[in-house]
Amino acid sequence: MKGLILSGGKGTRLRPFTFTRAKQLLPIANKPNLYYVVEDIVSAGIDSIGVIVNPETGGEIKAALGDGSRWGAEFTFIPQQEPRGLAHAVKTARRFLGDEPFVMYLGDNLLSGGIREFVEDYRAGRCDALILLTPVDNPQQFGVAVLDEAGAVRRLVEKPTDPPSNLALVGVYVFSPAVHEAIATLAPSRRGEYEITDAVQAMVDGGRRIEARLVHGWWKDTGRTEDLLDANRLVLSRLARDIRGRVETSDLVGEVVVEEGASILASVVRGPVHIAAGAVVDRSYIGPYTSVGPNARIVQSEVEYSILFADAEVRNLPHRLDSSVIGQGAVARGAGGGLRKHVARLVLGDISHVEI
Ligand code: G1P
Repeated sequence: MKGLILSGGKGTRLRPFTFTRAKQLLPIANKPNLYYVVEDIVSAGIDSIGVIVNPETGGEIKAALGDGSRWGAEFTFIPQQEPRGLAHAVKTARRFLGDEPFVMYLGDNLLSGGIREFVEDYRAGRCDALILLTPVDNPQQFGVAVLDEAGAVRRLVEKPTDPPSNLALVGVYVFSPAVHEAIATLAPSRRGEYEITDAVQAMVDGGRRIEARLVHGWWKDTGRTEDLLDANRLVLSRLARDIRGRVETSDLVGEVVVEEGASILASVVRGPVHIAAGAVVDRSYIGPYTSVGPNARIVQSEVEYSILFADAEVRNLPHRLDSSVIGQGAVARGAGGGLRKHVARLVLGDISHVEI
C-alpha cells in the first residue's frame, strides 16, 4: 500500500500566515502539521509516500520534509500545477500510485488516534474504499455522508447548503485502484473542482463497496486561526513534563516542556506549555496551552492560550495576550506605562510589528 499526502492548496482562511508559508507547515506544539501526518502514515506501516505540492509552496514543503529518511520513508514529490480539486490530485499522482491501494491524507488534517486501525481494517476487508467520518456542528463546511441502517455508505455531498446528515468526511481515505475509474467519469463541481467526494459517490453508484468508520478521539482540519489554537491545545494536552533548558528562579507548574537551549528566568509557566530551543522567557507569565517557538522571546509579559512562531517577540505588553498567534519574527511591544489589566487578542502575520 502507498501513501498520498495532499500538500497543495492556498490556505486563504489562514492568512496572514499563509501569505508567507504553506498551511501544512504551520506549527502545532512546535511541530509542522505535516510531520504528524507523515508519522501517522508511517505508523500504519506505509513507507512509500507521494506528496502533492503546488508551484507556490512546493519548495518549502520539500525542504521541510527532505527525502523521508528521518522517518524511514521515501517521498516522491508530485507537482500539481493548478488547484483543481482532490480527485484531480489523485489523477496527477496516477503514475506514482500504479495499481496499488493507497491511503490519502490531507496535509492540514490532524487526528489524535492516528490511522493505523483504519488502514488495518481496510487490509482485513474487501471494500473498494474506506472513509472516515465524524459528527460536526457545521456540516455545510465539509463533505457529508449519509449511511443506511446497516452502516453502508449511501450518499455523499460536498459542502451541502442543506446537509442531509451531520457526518463530515475526515480528510483521510483508503482507496483501491477502482477509484481511478470513478475519477475518470467526473465533471467539475459547482466550485469548479474535481471532488473526491463525487468520486466516492460514483463508486457507490457503480456498485462498489464503500465502508465508513467513525473517528475515535478528536479530529482537526486546521483551516482557520481558531482551529490552529484548538489543535495546539489538543496536542499540548498530551504533553509530558520534560525540562532540559535553563531555569532560574522560576515556577514551572505541571506539563511543561523546555527544550535544550531555552531559558526561563524569573517567570511562572503553567502547563501544558511547550517552549522550543533557543526561546527566552524573562520576567513573564505563560499560561496553559501556549507554544513558544524556537528563538522566540517573551519579556515582561503575560501570554496564555497562544502560539508564538519562531523568532517572534512579545515585550513589555500592558495587556495579557490571549488566543493570539504571533507570526515568525513578528514583534508585539508595549509602549510603556499603564497598568496591566486588559486582555488583548492579536493575530500577527510574519515579520509584523505592533506597539500597544
Ligand atoms: C476537503 C474535502 C471535504 C472534507 C475536508 C476535510 O475540503 O473536500 O470533503 O470534509 O477536506 O478536511 P477542503 O478542506 O478542501 O475545503
